Amino acid sequence: MSSDAGSFDDLLHEDRRFPPPAEFVAQAAVDAEDLHRRASEDREAYWASWAEELDWFEPWETVLEWDPPFAQWFVGGKLNVAHNCLDRHLRGSRRDKTAILWEGEPGDTRSFTYSELHKEVSAFANALRGLGVGKGDRVTIYLPMIPEAAVAMLACARIGAIHSVVFGGFSPESLADRNNDAEAKVLITADGGWRRGKVVPLKANADKAMERSPTVESVVVVRRGGELSQQVDARMKSGRDLWYHHLVEEARPECPAEVMDAEDILYILYTSGTTGKPKGVVHTTGGYLTQAYATTRAVFDLQEDDVYWCTADVGWVTGHSYIVYGPLANGATVLMYEGAPDHPDRGRFWELCQNYGVSIFYTAPTAIRAFMRWGDQWPERYDLSSLRLLGTVGEPINPEAWMWYREVVGGERCPIVDTWWQTETGAMMITPLPGHTETKPGSATRPFPGIDATILDEDGDETSSGYLAVTSPWPSMLRTVWGDEERFRATYWSKWDDVYFPGDGAKRDEDDYLWILGRVDDVLNVAGHRIGTMEVESALVEHPATAEAAVVGKKHDIKGEAIAAFVTLKEGRQGTDDLMQELRDFVGSKIGSIAKPEMVVFTADLPKTRSGKIMRRLLKDIAEGRTVGDTTTLADPAVVQRLQAQHEEKG
Ligand code: PRX
Repeated sequence: MSSDAGSFDDLLHEDRRFPPPAEFVAQAAVDAEDLHRRASEDREAYWASWAEELDWFEPWETVLEWDPPFAQWFVGGKLNVAHNCLDRHLRGSRRDKTAILWEGEPGDTRSFTYSELHKEVSAFANALRGLGVGKGDRVTIYLPMIPEAAVAMLACARIGAIHSVVFGGFSPESLADRNNDAEAKVLITADGGWRRGKVVPLKANADKAMERSPTVESVVVVRRGGELSQQVDARMKSGRDLWYHHLVEEARPECPAEVMDAEDILYILYTSGTTGKPKGVVHTTGGYLTQAYATTRAVFDLQEDDVYWCTADVGWVTGHSYIVYGPLANGATVLMYEGAPDHPDRGRFWELCQNYGVSIFYTAPTAIRAFMRWGDQWPERYDLSSLRLLGTVGEPINPEAWMWYREVVGGERCPIVDTWWQTETGAMMITPLPGHTETKPGSATRPFPGIDATILDEDGDETSSGYLAVTSPWPSMLRTVWGDEERFRATYWSKWDDVYFPGDGAKRDEDDYLWILGRVDDVLNVAGHRIGTMEVESALVEHPATAEAAVVGKKHDIKGEAIAAFVTLKEGRQGTDDLMQELRDFVGSKIGSIAKPEMVVFTADLPKTRSGKIMRRLLKDIAEGRTVGDTTTLADPAVVQRLQAQHEEKG
């Protein structure tokens, strides 16, 4: 697990309680008690009632067909996600409502009303069709946080193409791997994007990835980087690369939305698992949109005049469900910001909240801990009175950060929704409802109405401390792993019979509140980003100096976890500081900067059991400077003593 057991017990003694504020109880967007009652009486009818709030071209015949582990929701129903996020809002006053407010890191701004966004999406959808993209084809999106990222996703959805968004911080190699696994036909990128005052050279990365992406026929390039554009202009490869703005200018702005089956694939999103190879999580259309829509409305208590800001990147699932699909399906006004929270200074997020009158703010614990460390003076410098609700997602939030968020950002008036979910769940699963749930700092509280989540032990029996489990299918669940049904079964459905295993540990307190404790598998959560230890290990052993590598998570005040790597070198190689840096950079170039180990320890041997299994638990103890646990199963217990002595020497 990603934190030590002591702190879990402390958590359970957390006795601060925050009842829902009276205004939320009085004007809640949903009647939570009614949702809970209907969900417990007839779960399928309850989910169907949410689905009915969307536009369907043809109604479904059956709400759920469950042939474990395969679920189909709203079977036979036809709809289109882009139609639901755009066209549906053009009928009334939402036509001219702002859909996207955007600010670039340098301070440039743009905005789109629903009708403008509809036009842009339709034009780009036609352009994609012109490039030969049709229903079911895969399109990789590798963009900075600019409106075109949302436009590209919606344009794919409009024509039934399957998008695979790759976070702009991933390396060319990671991008190529994803292009190849999905067999993408088109890649959409930008000349660059701004991050901490520097241009991220996305097109250059894309060019490198293209050297080994044989299925990609065309590369669409959004013009973003200013001066950089001229250099990129010179490198546009004729017959392959096309400027986005040329395509959109030339395309017709009307594009009928493809009629999609509820179970047609909307997107693939790659996420880290316990092997070296990221898996393509597959989400479909009707169930996914229903749950993204329902949770956005209920959990954020979305009201018509809210200005909603989720600080995630569209490269992660949070950006998919809670920047694009959930909020736009609800007709919300969404703020998007391109850059870093500390550029040009550490007040940037609060300045944005003030300037745009943000009322709902959704971010990650790692960001909250960084803000906390930067000091109260930054939020205090700005008028944050427009905020009315705060959210967090991505990792367990420590009560101290939760309290700081509540007091300093939320002025003690904003409820906090701590939402537990995953790339695989597609949408929120365990979360407070702000007009209903009494919150406790650090607890995601209870399952959303219609979600059956509990805690089981190894044998599948209910317990108050063990593994988190989801016992019934839910609308936005992943349907499979792209191209690897076996991995889908093995990863999520093999621990117990017909019960989903998310890979997290959890505890239940006396009020039936759930406390998520972090991963129980070899997946790290670094600053809210999932990274598989095996991915980093595979990258490390590709370096010519490395013989063997073991990677563990190490507690980190801001990031939650940092990566610690233990490396044995090939004969004749010296473990110098230069090599340490080289290995860190090497991992950065293989996977992306987020995967760079913070700590590299050279060691002559790794602690292994007699059967040859690396004992990561012991390495974690060493990395975190703890007394090393039981070493009796080790083939050579002296390895640990040597490592520990070495670690202590280094301080
Ligand atoms: O360990 C849990 C943690 O993040 C994992 C999912 O990561 P990912 O698929 O990248 O999606 C993150 C955004 C939805 C989970 O298995 N996690 C997510 N939210 C919480 C959390 N842990 C505790 N509390 C949360 N609210």
